[in-house]
Amino acid sequence: MNVTVIGTGYVGLVTGTVFADLGNDVICVDIDPKKIETLRSGESPIYEPGLEEMLKRNIKQKRLTFTESIEGGIKDAEVVFIAVGTPPIETEDASDPSNGGTDLSQVRAVAKSIGLAIDHPMTIVNKSTVPVGTGDIVKEAVEKNQAGNVSFNVLSNPEFLREGSAIADCLKPDRIVIGAPSEDAARPLKELYAPLGAQVLVTDVKSAEIIKYASNAFLATKISFINAIADLCESSGADIAQVAGGMGLDERIGASFLNAGIGYGGSCFPKDTQSLIHTFSQFSEDNPLLKAVVAINSSRVDRILDRMEKRFGKLDGLTIAILGLAFKPDTDDLREARSVDIITHLLKGGSKIRTYDPVAMPAMKEHYPDIADQIEFCDDAYDVAHDADALVIVTEWRQFIQLNLEKLKKTMKQPIIFDGRNIYSPDELKELEFEYFSVGRGS
Ligand SMILES: NC(=O)c1ccc[n+]([C@@H]2O[C@H](COP(=O)([O-])OP(=O)(O)OC[C@H]3O[C@@H](n4cnc5c(N)ncnc54)[C@H](O)[C@@H]3O)[C@@H](O)[C@H]2O)c1
Repeated sequence: MNVTVIGTGYVGLVTGTVFADLGNDVICVDIDPKKIETLRSGESPIYEPGLEEMLKRNIKQKRLTFTESIEGGIKDAEVVFIAVGTPPIETEDASDPSNGGTDLSQVRAVAKSIGLAIDHPMTIVNKSTVPVGTGDIVKEAVEKNQAGNVSFNVLSNPEFLREGSAIADCLKPDRIVIGAPSEDAARPLKELYAPLGAQVLVTDVKSAEIIKYASNAFLATKISFINAIADLCESSGADIAQVAGGMGLDERIGASFLNAGIGYGGSCFPKDTQSLIHTFSQFSEDNPLLKAVVAINSSRVDRILDRMEKRFGKLDGLTIAILGLAFKPDTDDLREARSVDIITHLLKGGSKIRTYDPVAMPAMKEHYPDIADQIEFCDDAYDVAHDADALVIVTEWRQFIQLNLEKLKKTMKQPIIFDGRNIYSPDELKELEFEYFSVGRGS
């Protein structure tokens, strides 16, 4: 099939590359000329395991091309995916009714450009995460801007991939949700996804839009729930790892998303939970459950920082080693990463920060230059710990789990670890005479 993907970020680039790998002719469009230039040279502008190799292969076989022009990009398209960003609206005045909602300007701009260029029937698919009703907004924008009377359908096909395992998630999805105005309209997408052999659910457009938000909000709820239980474990002397293990064995609950820690971050959960709360309010509904989920998550960073302040009395003059910057392992994405909040607070308190992350250090320099200017980037986990008063585990990269802790201890000024991801065993750390603070595991 001739497929066009507009927006070559984490979702669009992976989607386009995977569809090319499945044998389709794919054109990826992006407004960012630097990105297009990088991609044309076969390099990936983002870190995603396996992506660059697949990218190079499909460029070489001429199934994958890149352009800045939506008009040129959709010239022969049968299916056009919109995969641009849908960031949160953050107003200075928190009581502004638009605050927390979704900024649809990128989606609107793309819909307008498609309308201006459309000259043959096609299937337009919203892959971006968008509030319920956005399908209608896209349809109206294309209709309003087109010169002729070309027929087209607007579908919703929310994306569930996870950064860090995006290629595998795209190739082996749990389910493919297609929100379509009719079974007939869903056919091109069903054909496109057929080689994956995955379970396909066809719904109406609005239901598909809500499925995405409801799924993310549910997973965020699981995380905040286990974090709330972790606090009880901490106060009562129980162990959250054992509690979560016992809960997770229940098939109705499942073991995933039950890791207590410093909370969720990233480009999806924080903005999608806020956006869903906002959507509830737009329909004059309230959702106290989701508000609590967000509040619990926000308090996680404060909790670990409070602990540090209690332990040291003051932050001024300390050298703190931060292990991990990315919002989760196997990605360089720093959007809503806990590291940014923690480092900002520690710098304000007067601490000196040393840090190491296997892939996200360039992203910190690019996206947070003010923070990057004030911190020291190190060569590896042992280097970062050198002369540190405390080590803080922020991202649970596999290589941090495997560290030689005796070697680490020798290089530190004081053997103190604040583990925001519970990656070490308290017993082992006690034996090694570390002062070890983790989440929800007794003292
Ligand atoms: N990142 C994830 O893990 C993930 C997972 C599922 C769903 N989503 C959703 O998918 C969407 C995209 O997310 P992302 O993380 O890939 O975003 P991103 O910011 O990484 O990428 C968006 C891309 O769109 C491009 N763009 C913006 N306006 C454009 C225009 N007018 N024409 C062409 N290109 C344009 C940007 O230059 C950028 O490259 C969002 O709605 C997000 O919520 C993301």
